Amino acid sequence: MPPIIHDVLILGSGAAGLSLALRLRDDISIAVVSKRDLREGSTLYAQGGISAVLDAGDSIEAHVQDTLKAGAGLCEAQVVQHIVERGPDNIRWLFEQGVAFTRNAEYTSAGGYHLTREGGHTYRRVVHAADATGHAVETTLEAQIRTRPNVNLYEQHIAVDLITTKSRSEHRCLGAYLLNRESGQVETFLAKFVVLATGGANKVYLYTSNPDVSTGDGIAMAWRAGCRVANMEFMQFHPTCLYHPQARTYLISEALRGEGAHLLLPDGERFMPRFDSRAELAPRDIVARAIDHEMKRLGAECVYLDISHQPADFILEHFPTIHGRCLELGIDITRDPMPVVPAAHYTCGGVMVDHRARTDVPGLYASGETAYTGLHGANRMASNSLLECLVYSEAAAADIEQRLADWPLPPEVPAWDESRVTEPDEEVVVTHNWDELRRFMWDYVGIVRTNKRLYRAKRRADLLAQEVIEYYSHFRVNNDLIELRNLLEVADLIIQSALRRRESRGLHYTLDFPSKDASQRSPTILIPDSYQPRRD
Ligand code: FAD
Ligand code: SIN
Repeated sequence: MPPIIHDVLILGSGAAGLSLALRLRDDISIAVVSKRDLREGSTLYAQGGISAVLDAGDSIEAHVQDTLKAGAGLCEAQVVQHIVERGPDNIRWLFEQGVAFTRNAEYTSAGGYHLTREGGHTYRRVVHAADATGHAVETTLEAQIRTRPNVNLYEQHIAVDLITTKSRSEHRCLGAYLLNRESGQVETFLAKFVVLATGGANKVYLYTSNPDVSTGDGIAMAWRAGCRVANMEFMQFHPTCLYHPQARTYLISEALRGEGAHLLLPDGERFMPRFDSRAELAPRDIVARAIDHEMKRLGAECVYLDISHQPADFILEHFPTIHGRCLELGIDITRDPMPVVPAAHYTCGGVMVDHRARTDVPGLYASGETAYTGLHGANRMASNSLLECLVYSEAAAADIEQRLADWPLPPEVPAWDESRVTEPDEEVVVTHNWDELRRFMWDYVGIVRTNKRLYRAKRRADLLAQEVIEYYSHFRVNNDLIELRNLLEVADLIIQSALRRRESRGLHYTLDFPSKDASQRSPTILIPDSYQPRRD
């Protein structure tokens, strides 16, 4: 099959991928790829909202300071300043696209937007569409993108690997090999510029708030292509996912705590004030650790989140989706507390990018959860990630447009070679190793770590990686194998990074080094063997 050629190849169709495609000029030929249906990804499920300084009483400085504080000394201050400053314009851009944020006539100082609060924020600055912000954002951007004649959509295509030049004198990204999940064929896509907008890696853990697509593909592909990755030890656990056998990945938004919900032990005791003066609105790392501590201390299966002291009509107005979902499971949140547990939620580290979203490989960009920009430091503050997606995609679009005319066309590349592989003979290797990986990551590389547990995880990850690489080189690729290979790569990056950080900071908490060490105030940067410093 001849290669499919576009100016820009965007891998991923969440907030990062779609906003980038929409911001590019309409004479640019664009491919947007998603491995499932276009809208499936974390963006669709975002609940709480997007943080931005919209109220006259709030300030850029306050948003910056809150972000720096939540990031526990590891945020890059200039990056934080830039992203926060671009917040209000990006919210307006979403509004112009048609996103129907919740409005409230009383909020005249915030331009009529209703603003909610979440952990770490000292001010109400989270704009939202009730409790289904991501659905409003994703479906609006999807509707827009489907009207663009210059944008070609490739759903059900999963990127296997990036294509780069082999020459050391001219290192550059040329495209990607994509498995068409419907035909089973691997197709060659070439482009002047490639963007990784593939989301996070939270499926590496057994329990997660994330949809199935969050398997760290972009991070693993970039690492194999020669990009540095940073801060992979900082995997964020959301404190409150519903604990119910039929709702293993259902998030209960932090906005409930922002609107007054309390965390309770099984005997009804409110425990967060014992851990932090901000109680339920302390940053996520603190709340998740407190819950983990109390569950282990009591041998409890879960704790409870209770908002039933608020009027029922207030709950129904602000949290209709969560109310509806819980009711389906027999929990009426206007009367009953919700059983909750922490679950893996967000990948704070990722592919290193500069302020234009350029990675280490020329022609390759990254935006969204897959990227490491320096915004989140050791702990992401709630609702800062959709903001980061929008701001870095805006920057990438501007940079791509500026370079496009002078950038060389990709040369011919070899087609995907399947001559030496056969049909997989034992799919059980993939399913078994997938389950094993996610379980030991949960048990040994979770909320509370020790070196002994990390080394135990490393030994297992190495063994599984060996098996999977062998399998990969003998058998025809399929979706599960591609994802498992990537998850193993990412697991290794998380473990390596966690072993390097010999202190407890933000989301990385280890019993071997339980305190913060002021001398370790720099990101953990891993450098692949194929890394070449960029010349621009
Ligand atoms: P995603 O939206 O995850 O999209 C990833 C895309 O990449 C998908 O289209 C997928 O198909 C594609 N993809 C992945 N791998 C491949 C591959 N190999 N080949 C081809 N395509 C691929 N953040 C906030 O700021 N506010 C919130 O209120 C909020 N609530 C959240 C609630 C939940 C339940 C979850 C899970 C997350 C929440 N977050 C929130 C985090 C935020 O939603 C994500 O960080 C953000 O949406 C990531 O956007 P993205 O575009 O980077 O990736
Ligand atoms: C939530 O609504 O609790 C999720 C917010 C976020 O992850 O930013």
